[in-house]
Amino acid sequence: MKVLVTGGCGYIGSHTCVELLDSGYDVVVVDNLSNSKEDVIDKIETITGKKVKFYKEDICNKDKMNEIFTSEKIDAVIHFAGFKAVGESVAKPLMYYRNNIDSTLTLLEVMKEHNCKKIVFSSSATVYGKPASLPITEDFPLQTTNPYGSTKLMIEMILNDLYISDNDWSIAILRYFNPIGAHKSGLIGENPNGIPNNLMPYIVKVANKELQELSVFGNDYDTIDGTGVRDYIHVVDLAKGHIKAIEKVTKDKGIDKYNLGTGKGYSVLQIINTFKTVNNIDVPYKIVDRRPGDIDACYASTKKANDVLNWHAELEIEEMCRDAWNFVNKNR
Ligand code: NAD
Ligand code: WQD
Repeated sequence: MKVLVTGGCGYIGSHTCVELLDSGYDVVVVDNLSNSKEDVIDKIETITGKKVKFYKEDICNKDKMNEIFTSEKIDAVIHFAGFKAVGESVAKPLMYYRNNIDSTLTLLEVMKEHNCKKIVFSSSATVYGKPASLPITEDFPLQTTNPYGSTKLMIEMILNDLYISDNDWSIAILRYFNPIGAHKSGLIGENPNGIPNNLMPYIVKVANKELQELSVFGNDYDTIDGTGVRDYIHVVDLAKGHIKAIEKVTKDKGIDKYNLGTGKGYSVLQIINTFKTVNNIDVPYKIVDRRPGDIDACYASTKKANDVLNWHAELEIEEMCRDAWNFVNKNR
């Protein structure tokens, strides 16, 4: 079975390509390298000992996408490609709406034309906005607080409408919580350019002495130690969730949404302390004001993914911290 992975050179896409290849799927990647590098393909091939067919293309290019679908005979798609930085989306909303929506519409049109109607889509816990209670189940009300989140919600709506129009589609919407960590080999991981926005990439750069100290955004939340609580999930566990989702869309028609998280929440200070302990390295930090738009706590109910997809996260926070640091050490 041949799976097209859009954005397959990126952080989550690359780990998913490894799991797909290890599970016996043929993999075709389309990525325009706007936030990744082509050598990721070599690394995926080194880890798995298998070949990946790579196209450096923009998914918004319909002619090229048509050519790829014609020559590759794609059975199913995992759609990761898109821009993902919340702050940048506030500053450049049109760029976010254009890239994330346009690429998805083009992809879906081409899939329809080629009668390929199985898709797994990367959504985000950001579609829950500020949840009224915890843990978050898939039927919670949806609301967004920034253009990035709105693109995810709009794409979910587009996929819903598409399914209503044609019940032949099989669609799995995966709402990721906070992916961190890296592949055990240290060959692939998260490597953002410039100053990171997210917690783990920032911690790693402080530990590596590229940045002086971490700013902890607020210690007056109603949480275990006052700092923000999130559901961090190892990227390899997350990648494995995509294999289960591909199995599901291959087997059953329909549209459904699944939270992919661990179901456990950790505070910023718990993450810092675990990182320091397992890696035996210092992470200097200071407490600063809350970051605008942040919520106090967020973690998933994973029951639906457990029950319906037969998936659950296995790796603990210690492995997430260890593997994130191992990736940096192997790539100095
Ligand atoms: P990433 O930026 O590492 O990967 C995205 C990839 O898509 C990049 O390689 C980029 O070059 C490519 N891309 C972007 N626009 C493209 C286009 N028009 N045509 C072709 N390629 C294009 O991001 P990631 O962390 O791997 O995230 C993957 C997906 O998961 C995204 O849709 C993101 O919104 C979603 N997501 C990520 C997180 C997270 O914390 N990392 C959380 C929830 C959801
Ligand atoms: C985690 C915690 C911060 C940085 C974002 C997106 C979301 C999703 C995942 C894509 C919070 C604190 C952070 C720092 C800190 N991405 N923090 N100092 O905000 O949960 O979610 O990434 O879909 O859409 O919004 O993740 O890693 O930014 O923050 O104290 O320098 O760490 O306040 O409590 P977040 P994050």
